[in-house]
Order: sequence, then C-alpha cells, then structure tokens
Amino acid sequence: MSNNNNDTSPSTPQAMRAWVYTSTRGGIEKNIQLIDNAPLPFHPPLPNDAILVKVHYSALNPADYKFPELGLPMRALIPTPASPGMDFSGVVAQVGDAVAASFRVGDNVFGRIPPSKHGSLGEYVCAHLDGCAAVPEGVSLQDASCIGTAAQTAYQCIAPNVKEGDKVFVNGGSGGTGTFGIQIAKALGCHVTTSCSGKNAELCRSLGADEIIDYTAENVSQVLKAKGQVYQLVVDNVGTPSDLYKAADHFLRPEGKFVQIGGEFSLTNITTIMSRQFLPSFLGGGKRKWQYLVTNNTHADLEQIAKWMSEGKVKAIIDEVFQYEDAPKAFEKLRKGRTRGKIVIKCST
Ligand SMILES: NC(=O)c1ccc[n+]([C@@H]2O[C@H](COP(=O)([O-])OP(=O)(O)OC[C@H]3O[C@@H](n4cnc5c(N)ncnc54)[C@H](OP(=O)(O)O)[C@@H]3O)[C@@H](O)[C@H]2O)c1
Repeated sequence: MSNNNNDTSPSTPQAMRAWVYTSTRGGIEKNIQLIDNAPLPFHPPLPNDAILVKVHYSALNPADYKFPELGLPMRALIPTPASPGMDFSGVVAQVGDAVAASFRVGDNVFGRIPPSKHGSLGEYVCAHLDGCAAVPEGVSLQDASCIGTAAQTAYQCIAPNVKEGDKVFVNGGSGGTGTFGIQIAKALGCHVTTSCSGKNAELCRSLGADEIIDYTAENVSQVLKAKGQVYQLVVDNVGTPSDLYKAADHFLRPEGKFVQIGGEFSLTNITTIMSRQFLPSFLGGGKRKWQYLVTNNTHADLEQIAKWMSEGKVKAIIDEVFQYEDAPKAFEKLRKGRTRGKIVIKCST
C-alpha cells in the first residue's frame, strides 16, 4: 500500500473549502462563512498516526453550536477562525505510516473528531484510529455520518450498564441520541421505555420501544414511579423533568444507574445537575449511582455500531439532509431542539 505521508505528494491539497466562524455573537448560524482558502487540518507532512479524509457528509450535533458559543473559555482551547462539526463520513485521501495496516487511500470511512479548529464542515478532516472506522458493505456514507457522536454516545451510555432482559428508560427517544439509544438497547436485548411527544410516538415505537410516555401529556416521573423499582438503567438525553434523578429512587433498581448526557449547556444547569449527586436526599439528592457521560472516541464501539447497521439491527433516522451551502439553515433547525433523528449536511460527492 502506498503511503502519501509527505508534503510533496501530488494528492496533498494546498488549501480547502470550509465553513468557518470567528465570532458566535447572535448564534453560530449568523456568523459562519464559506471560504475557499482555509488551511488544511495539519501542517504537512500528515502525522504518522492519522488519515486525511475528504468529507462527503457531516452530521450535526447540539455540541457543534454549544461549544463554540461558550465564548472566551472555548476560544482559549479552539482559536478562531475555526470550522464547526465533529461527525463525518468520507473517503481516505492520505494515510500515515502508523495506521497503514488499518486504512488505504480510497477507503470509505466514518467517525468523529473532537471539537477542534478544523471541524467536519471543512473539506478535509484529519482523523485518528480511535475516532474512525471503515464503512461496512451495505451502509451508505450518508447513514454512516450519523454514527460518530449520537450513536457512539448512546452505545457508551447503554452497553456497559446492561445485560439481556434488563429494563432501560431512555428520556427523550426521538432525537439523535434517543433514536440510536432505543435501537442499541433493543439490539442488546433490553426492554425499552422512552419519553417523547405524541407526534413522535410512532417513530419511537417503530424503532423498537416497548413503552412510550408522552411527556407533553403525562408527568414522566410519576408514570415511572408507579412502575416500581424495575429499571436497570436511565439514559437522560434531555435534562428535564428536573426531579427525574430524585424520582429514580422509586423506579431504578438499587444497583441501577442513572446516566446523564443531555441538558441545557449552562454553568448553572451543570452545577445543579451535578450537585444533585452529592446532596443528601432531604435537600433533593438521590440515592442511585449517577454518571455524567462524556463521549470517548473508541474504534471498537464505532465498529460495533456500523456492524449492527450493516445487519439491519440499527438504522440512522435522518430528519433532513442540507446542501453544503445551506449549513447555516441546518444550524437554525438544529437549535430549535425538535429534530427527529439527525440533521446531515452533504459536503461533497
Ligand atoms: N455528554 C455528551 O458527551 C453528549 C453527547 C451527545 C449529546 N449530548 C447532549 O444530549 C442532548 C441530546 O442530544 P441529541 O443529539 O439527541 O439532541 P437533538 O437531536 O437535538 O434532540 C432533539 C429531540 O429532543 C426531544 N425532546 C426535547 N425536549 C424533550 C423532553 N422534555 N422530553 C423528551 N424529548 C424531548 C425532541 O422531541 P420533541 O420535538 O417531541 O420535543 C427532539 O426529537 C443535548 O443536550 C446534547 O448536547 C451530550
């Protein structure tokens, strides 16, 4: 296999197209600009342990606007101008020596890069083995682009915490993480209860949810409490109702676990959520094991999800595919918080 790990390779582009922001005042969608002369995501030569991927699809996640909009603290970590986006699928353009056994130029790959200056709304991304895997036969690049954050997060919340036959409650079953969470829990042989609005009940049922709680018509915590201590795991993709963790004393088994990923991204909210964990129960604390999960790029997890996709056990639910030029509109829609499954941007073909 030929390695193109040098700066004189004819396949090394000199600059690239990218959506970039320097400010996020008023919302990232009002600030991102499409430019033709963005720098490559690496200073040639390509690092030994990396691959260069031409991005074909990028799926958006709430963190793609939440992190940049954190302001100054984030600027310290990610200097601007920067491209948003973490999830990608595309074709390998160059391969570093150390990963030459895993990837070849021309391979279809997908994955997730951590939030960075060179996000997946750039023409190329630089990916590492932990955050990247091959797209299996029978899976489209468009579908594979949805796995990186939403499916990987759902997998990491659920797989280590359940066994076949366990009951799982997925709070918020109709968004990116929820649609994957329902299917992953079912693929692992669990019984799934999920919350969603009435209009999304049929979607969640079609993905395998056994029981649905319409959060717009019922009190989620009360409905769950009435079931008794039968659940092994709660995955909270939403962060509301605010009494859900405390109420879990009544519906999670004593050895069960409450895994939080979602919620409003503010210091106040994060402090409130975390303090629940340490407060005594008379001050609103709960008794069950609690974890705030941060997605951790893991090659084996990406491979497992893609395998399930190729076997038809898990599918990507795509709300809408936007053209590359319409990236600001994609962010506008994402921010509304009503996405059914994923929002995808078609970057190139
Ligand atoms: N910690 C991590 O590493 C990590 C990783 C991934 C995601 N996250 C966070 O997890 C959250 C979910 O992410 P996502 O990608 O799934 O977001 P998303 O796709 O934007 O979620 C939208 C969905 O949430 C549903 N929803 C809104 N309010 C709800 C409620 N009160 N009860 C039930 N469902 C509700 C909406 O359905 P309706 O229209 O019916 O309301 C919609 O289908 C976000 O806060 C995100 O930042 C964290």
